[in-house]
Amino acid sequence: MNEHPHSLSMSERADRLEEEKMHEMERIITRSTLAHLMDGNVKMDTSVEMRARYPGKFFLMGDDPRLPRMPEKPTLVDYFRHRFASTAHLLQSATHALKGGQPEKVVLACLLHDIAIVSFIRCDHGYWGAQMIEPYVDEEVAWAVKTHQALRFFPDESVGYGYPDLYKQLFGPEYRPEPYIVEEYNRARAHKWYMTSRLICVNDIYSFDPNAKVNLDDFVDIIGRNFKQPKEGLGLDSSPSAHMWRTILWPTRFL
Ligand SMILES: [Fe+2]
Ligand SMILES: [Fe+2]
Repeated sequence: MNEHPHSLSMSERADRLEEEKMHEMERIITRSTLAHLMDGNVKMDTSVEMRARYPGKFFLMGDDPRLPRMPEKPTLVDYFRHRFASTAHLLQSATHALKGGQPEKVVLACLLHDIAIVSFIRCDHGYWGAQMIEPYVDEEVAWAVKTHQALRFFPDESVGYGYPDLYKQLFGPEYRPEPYIVEEYNRARAHKWYMTSRLICVNDIYSFDPNAKVNLDDFVDIIGRNFKQPKEGLGLDSSPSAHMWRTILWPTRFL
C-alpha cells in the first residue's frame, strides 16, 4: 500500500481501519442484509467474497468480541445492562408510572414499551417489542406494548393526552399515520385493555426529564414478579421469540 494516508477521505480511512481491525480478529464478522439496507445498499456479505478477503479464517458463530460479554444464562436485566443502548427513557417512564401509583402490570409495560428501539429496530417498534416479550409477560402487557405504537398518534382528552408536540418537531406538522396505524388505533380503542396501552402513552410523554434520577435496581423486583425468566437464559430457551433475543445476543453470527 503506497498511498499517503492523508489522501484518503474520512470514510475511506474508517473502512481501512475496520479492515485492519478485522484482520486482527480471529473470526470473520458479517453484517446481515438488513444492516446494509439501513446504509442504503441492497447487498449482502457473501461467504465467497468474505473468505477471499480474509483467507484462512472461519466465520463468527457465537459471541461478538467487540460487544460486552453476556453471562451464560442471560436475564432481562443483563440485556438492560449490556445490550440496550439507552435505558433512561424506559426507566423514567416506569418511574413515572410507579410514582403515579399504577399497578405493576402498567409499570412493567412502561419499562418495556420501547425495548425494540433501544436494542433492535425502530420501524414498527411496538410490534417487535410486543413479540419479544409476549412469551414471558402477562398477555395484557404485550398487547399494551404493541398498541402504544398506534395510540401515540391519537389524543385522548379524558386522560389529558394530546398529540405530542415532539412529534410535530420530529415528523413535521403534515405527517399523518399510515392506514394500518389508524386501523390499529380503532381496534385498540374498542378493546377491553385500551387504557393499559393508553397509560403507556400518558407516562411516556412526561418522561424526557434529563435530570430525573432513575435506577434499574428499583425495578428488579417488579421484573422478578412479572417477567417469566427462562431457566436456560433469555434467548437460549425455546419460546416463540427466543430467536429475537438470540439475535440481540449474537447479532453478527454468520447463521
Ligand atoms: Fe414507543
Ligand atoms: Fe417511549
